[in-house]
Amino acid sequence: MPGRITVQTIRRMKGKQLIVAITAYDANGARHASEAGIDLILVGDSVGNAVLGMPSTVSVTLEMIIHHTSAVVRAQPHSLVVADLPFAEARYSMDHLLDSCRRLLQEARADAVKLEGGIGIADSVANLVLAGIPVLGHIGLLPQRINDLGTYRRFGRNSSERDHLIADARALEKAGAFAIVAEMVEAGTAKAIREAISVPLIGIGSGDDCDGQIRVVTDLLGLGHGKVPSFAKVYADLGKATREALGAYAGDVRSSGPAGTSG
Ligand code: KIV
Repeated sequence: MPGRITVQTIRRMKGKQLIVAITAYDANGARHASEAGIDLILVGDSVGNAVLGMPSTVSVTLEMIIHHTSAVVRAQPHSLVVADLPFAEARYSMDHLLDSCRRLLQEARADAVKLEGGIGIADSVANLVLAGIPVLGHIGLLPQRINDLGTYRRFGRNSSERDHLIADARALEKAGAFAIVAEMVEAGTAKAIREAISVPLIGIGSGDDCDGQIRVVTDLLGLGHGKVPSFAKVYADLGKATREALGAYAGDVRSSGPAGTSG
């Protein structure tokens, strides 16, 4: 697919053009995102809570990500497609990790993978990059650690957390990550991280001083259930539009048909 966005395109955008990224979980979502000019589509493990009705991302499996990434890729989006590596996959052996990421590229045909973690997974990231698997890093709030964290919260609010996050980002950059997502990082810390690395920092709930932004698509479109995070602007209420359309359909069906059955 000539002209498609590559990891090198994303890398080169730092300092020149802000990166626009969004999650997508199926072919229709990918088609809409691509036609809207989105640079990067993440098949996030947020599919668990955003679409599959799970309480968190912890129950999302590799097979699910392969299934959803394959659907996204079938839409042939112009955007770069990144597949999320699900819970605990990065903590098995290097062989296992390599095989999981291989499947995301070979079977699901993702362009790159995303891994949650910093210094602790930098060696694994370096090995993946050496094997030709482009990696998007993810620091700050790591939703896969919710069972350990207890609650979703903001990171980088004190100097110790700030130093840790900068060290995480530097380690991922050194390992060869082509860009890094910063989730729920205090805005001043996100700025400091962005300035400390030469690859793009893509923020979510981390203020405007990033090289780009990523959001969960269901938050933006009013399609989720439960509370929308305060940082996510809602651009459309497709949930309401869907309920109204289905209600109108139900009304049409119920007011038609054989005599004596309507109403
Ligand atoms: O799974 C996901 O959607 C993510 C984004 C929140 C960055 O990791």
